[in-house]
Amino acid sequence: MAETLVTQSSQDRGTFQFTLNGRPVEVKGDHPHLLSALREELGVTSAKDGCSPSGQCGCCTVLIDGKASVSCLMSLEKAAGKSITTLEGFDPAERERFAAAFASTGALQCGFCTPGIVVRLKALLDKKGSDLTREDAARHLGAHLCRCTGYTKILDAVEVLAKGETPEVSALGGVGSRGIKYESLAHALGDCGYVDDLRVPGLLHGALRLADHARAKVRGIDVSAALASPGVQGVFTAADVPGNLRVGIINTDWPIFIPEGGQTAYLGDVLAIVVADSRQAAREATKLVDVTYEPLRPITDPVSAIEDPEDAVWELEGNVLSRSEYRRGDVDAALASSAHTVHEVFQTQRVEHAFLEPESTLAVPQEDGSLKVFSGGQGAWDDRDQIASVLGVGTERVVVEQISNGGAFGGKEDMANQAQTALASWLLGRPVKCTLSREESFLLHPKRHPVRLEYWAGCDSEGLLTALKARMIGDSGPYASVGMKVLERAAGHASGPYVLPSIDVESVAVRTNNPMCGAFRGFGANQAQFAMEGVIDRLAEKVGISGWEMRARNVVHPGVVWGPGQIMDDGCAGAMACLEEIKPAYEEAVAAGRAVGLGLGLKNAGLGNGFLEIAKAVVRFEEDGTVEVRHCWTEMGQGIHTVVRQVAVEELGVDPDALRVVVDTTRELGAGQTTGSRGTLMGAGTVADACRRADEDGRRTGVDYVGEHRVDWTNSLDEGVENPTIHSAFSYAAQMVVIDRESGKIEKVLAVHDVGRAVNPMLCEGQIQGAVHMGLGYALSEEFPSDAEGRPLKTTLRGLGILRPKDVPPIEAVLVEVPQPRAPYGIKGMGEIGLVPTAGAVAAALHDLDGEWRSTLPMSSSGDAHEDAEG
Ligand code: FES
Ligand code: FES
Repeated sequence: MAETLVTQSSQDRGTFQFTLNGRPVEVKGDHPHLLSALREELGVTSAKDGCSPSGQCGCCTVLIDGKASVSCLMSLEKAAGKSITTLEGFDPAERERFAAAFASTGALQCGFCTPGIVVRLKALLDKKGSDLTREDAARHLGAHLCRCTGYTKILDAVEVLAKGETPEVSALGGVGSRGIKYESLAHALGDCGYVDDLRVPGLLHGALRLADHARAKVRGIDVSAALASPGVQGVFTAADVPGNLRVGIINTDWPIFIPEGGQTAYLGDVLAIVVADSRQAAREATKLVDVTYEPLRPITDPVSAIEDPEDAVWELEGNVLSRSEYRRGDVDAALASSAHTVHEVFQTQRVEHAFLEPESTLAVPQEDGSLKVFSGGQGAWDDRDQIASVLGVGTERVVVEQISNGGAFGGKEDMANQAQTALASWLLGRPVKCTLSREESFLLHPKRHPVRLEYWAGCDSEGLLTALKARMIGDSGPYASVGMKVLERAAGHASGPYVLPSIDVESVAVRTNNPMCGAFRGFGANQAQFAMEGVIDRLAEKVGISGWEMRARNVVHPGVVWGPGQIMDDGCAGAMACLEEIKPAYEEAVAAGRAVGLGLGLKNAGLGNGFLEIAKAVVRFEEDGTVEVRHCWTEMGQGIHTVVRQVAVEELGVDPDALRVVVDTTRELGAGQTTGSRGTLMGAGTVADACRRADEDGRRTGVDYVGEHRVDWTNSLDEGVENPTIHSAFSYAAQMVVIDRESGKIEKVLAVHDVGRAVNPMLCEGQIQGAVHMGLGYALSEEFPSDAEGRPLKTTLRGLGILRPKDVPPIEAVLVEVPQPRAPYGIKGMGEIGLVPTAGAVAAALHDLDGEWRSTLPMSSSGDAHEDAEG
């Protein structure tokens, strides 16, 4: 119980006292909630801020008088006099037990949600002990979001903990072993710092002033009132940018500020950054930045935007961002002579990534005149180059240090607040940190594209596909980001993993004033294959064969020509291997009278399309017997640090504890963004090569052994090559969704994935389960719609429709290994494909249940699988 009572006093809200981890403490009264006092004044970092003050993610959970509660909903008035326990205050043996349980079961990936969940579980275990069941825990964890794991392995950890054991933590082995994830023990306890956990002396806080209209001329920006606000140290706008105003990882078209005389293009546009002594003061002062607008008609319908005489984006002509197309054979003739045809329009929805860690940047001026920027983005060099361009200095004046982030899924490829934070720090000569609120994060970063897909497809009387015509229109929002690549990938994957003798595909990315869209796990393949799987099932019904049989008759095999003309290599045998592996369970479920749906998908790994992909890594033996492995990829929960360690153990046979992994942004190991399932694929190749070079040279200490992996043999569609190798590698997956006919609930998902070679099967399973959870949400309940003004209709995490733990069916992950030629160890990459087949499988199962074909996402289930997730 609390030892000290409240002594709130003066008008300035005085101070508040409570007990923290058994120690009496006193905090200033101006914190908006207990979480702020814990993190900003008392140095607690285990409690994370994923959504304050809305209380919807669970990341900030602490024990208040022994009861698990979210601290961002608790005012200091209410906290006063109470006993607060955070993970830092747990008994050391108990900390060890929780960490071991989470690490050994693979129950965490990015780890941002984990400390809050651990606190909740402690309260539950204290109350229920060994009686705590999986189902119980799933219900109680409803207050917690985890975007990475799909909860399956978290519930595995619960079972371990309920038994009261401290599990063995298996050491990391070579390629193929199931060792624990690197730093997972520390991550489970919240001891690995994310950007917002970093503290430096003299720190100032930045906050962004965002646009009030999705499309409006900016007539004036008056910052005088904000500047005069208490604690404010500076307010910066476009007028303060010494270098380039616009940034972008492909097209340089995204202004970091909208200037006076400019025009907003979506509600995530930034008008100013306010810097103050505290985050609270900075955020309050953003409201005092006075912007005068002349509102314009927002362009929000992507189909009519193509022909709209007005431009959605200031100084950019026309609203067509890109057009991707290819053709083989005479599609119209093939369709006309087909025994069966289908014509269907599919519509997918915009989806928010909902990574649990909102974007955060810390910029610190260095004594040598350079600027160090701590970023949780997905590409340190892109960040560095863009920041340097905004500051108008050479890239040698900016060092970006990559900090492992709390989830990204593609949503952190573009800069969010890195440039504005760096600019403010540069101009003030002081360290500045800017962390977005959840609402700002929603508004600012690009989402998954909503795509309209019109498909015409045919097959012969035996079910062999004859032709496919596809027309896609994707709503990209205002700026390019990677929108053109997403729609290009959708075009390339239009036919799914099937053989089409003739094909005609056109895919258009459109600029609008809706929320930005860009990279998101699956990158266009999800949308295209939801449509293609729908077509396959409709045709199977017309032919009178099962979904499995239809897929088996048309699946790609080595030597066939696929999609845009690529001749498939031996790796594509993985598609049929997945179908064979899933067949017994499929037949069993059908025979048992269940409603069953199948989905089959493929997804490229790497960038492909003629892009020169070269990555490097460094292995160095130190005098003290340790081995340093330096690489260039972002750890965001997927386990790239673990992968590179396993490769080093495999190649060098050294003790894994002697390996130190460093993300090196001080030298050009450059490989671009950590995206497209390329981290494992290329990272493994670089480290293996560096290890072999070290071996050849006798492993001398103090020598940097540089390894390289290059993929320089892909073709772009524009090269005019008859059979272009568009991608160097593909992964494949077959997923089955089983619905109980009485309850209408999904009772099981079986996910069979060909990963080429599983570097760490436990991590692979976790990736699959997390992706399937995301895929079920995509299929059933998740969306991020906006109105005719371009304004998002969902403003909270709870409103996104993400499935909560009790609504997630058992997800069984099965790995198949058909090696990828020309890839290290045969690795195919598997982070992205996870949810490619899921929506199609759910649609087929629902059709089996009630006979209704669905073509719009999210689909309404006749069961109540997502009812609570939306409530
Ligand atoms: S930060 Fe408190 S519940 Fe999300
Ligand atoms: S591990 Fe749960 S959100 Fe990343």
